[in-house]
Amino acid sequence: MKNRREFMKSSLVISAGLVAAGVAPASAAENTKASIFYYSQKNQGRWEGKAQSHAPVVTVDGNKVTIETKHSMSPEHYIVKHSLLTSTGEVLGESVFFPTDKPISTYEISGGHKELFALSFCNLHDLWVSEITL
Ligand SMILES: [Fe+2]
Repeated sequence: MKNRREFMKSSLVISAGLVAAGVAPASAAENTKASIFYYSQKNQGRWEGKAQSHAPVVTVDGNKVTIETKHSMSPEHYIVKHSLLTSTGEVLGESVFFPTDKPISTYEISGGHKELFALSFCNLHDLWVSEITL
């Protein structure tokens, strides 16, 4: 990647492609061809052993959803972005990080969701997804 902007564009294209393809990010993670494009606690693929520092950790407190990636942050290696999506691919929130930030984001959601998907993108270790059942 030539620069941060180009990298962000490519990560958005990947995320949008998953949504456009109707891929429910984590629920299908273990059993579909789409699982080659992202990783999860159960599907670590070529990044085997990196789930603890890359799979997003989600906590829900009422209507407040917090996503945390337990990953170190440096200019060379950091979490670029979090997204919170519904099972139909609706984006409920997104946060972009700089290497100086902590990879924690919080979103207010409205009721009615039964499952959500938290996405975390590492600049070196690709896209990781965690499913949240409410
Ligand atoms: Fe990483």
